Amino acid sequence: MATFAVTGSASGMGAASAATLSAAGHTVIGVDLRDADILADLGTAEGRERAAEEILARCGGTLDGVAAIAGVGPNLPDAAAVMSINYFGTVRLLERLRPALAASGAGRAVVIGSNAASTVPVVDDDLVELALAGKEQAARERARAAAEAMPAEVRAMVPSISAYASSKFALARWVRRTAVTPAWARQGVLLNGIAPGAVLTPLMLGATGDAADYDPDGFPTPMPLGVFGRPEDIAFWVQQFLRPEARFTTGAILYVDGGTDAAMRPDAQPTAMTP
Ligand code: NAI
Repeated sequence: MATFAVTGSASGMGAASAATLSAAGHTVIGVDLRDADILADLGTAEGRERAAEEILARCGGTLDGVAAIAGVGPNLPDAAAVMSINYFGTVRLLERLRPALAASGAGRAVVIGSNAASTVPVVDDDLVELALAGKEQAARERARAAAEAMPAEVRAMVPSISAYASSKFALARWVRRTAVTPAWARQGVLLNGIAPGAVLTPLMLGATGDAADYDPDGFPTPMPLGVFGRPEDIAFWVQQFLRPEARFTTGAILYVDGGTDAAMRPDAQPTAMTP
């Protein structure tokens, strides 16, 4: 049986993933702000470091997989925190845990992005570049400035939508760029991403918490399957990516979104190589 770390294990997709992995007999080390084996704020450097130290102590330096699921949505008022939690919290923790994944011999990492990266037209290219360059403070400042520049009506509804889409876009880019580097690929550590669409979790349901308030056919983005996702729909793919048998896929971004991205951008993938 394997040992996996799951961030965001207290709620939604993270809780469903932790439950799925535990039910399969694996050891799960949960990380979250509350109700978890390790309590840590991944939005801060100190929190990430403490989480990494405690994970490494619990697994004895050999970790079979990480499911980096913790994250926040576009409703969070502080756009800087969205960048720090969604992008840097994920990337820095995975970088820190990579040697322990390499020690496993069949290390696996799966990251939760979002289909918002490609279906919400407010990705800020400069912000993405700052994130990929590892410049957290500059990214935080840029995210706040971009949020303040959004129209007031957008800010009132989704104050951090640009930071959210940009954080998830940068995460997908980071996965593809990083997965193929020797430090990951030649150490047998496979790194993939999942891009969920609308999934009925506390994050999506917000204040009311009531799924009945949402109609797939009245949703702002198309929902071809006519249903919203459930946390278990994401947990299923998390588990597949973490399996040792999943040994020839790395750098993939799997859309688990009921067909939203395919409906909005049917020809976006594949793109032909230009000479
Ligand atoms: P959720 O709110 O149910 O669960 C997220 C978990 O992350 C919570 O337990 C929360 O405490 C934890 N978390 C948040 N900030 C943290 C921090 N600073 N440090 C440690 N833990 C922290 O949300 P859900 O929907 O399960 O979200 C999981 C991931 O999926 C997130 O990364 C989210 O951005 C992403 N996502 C969600 C979608 C949806 O429709 N629900 C769509 C696309 C992506």
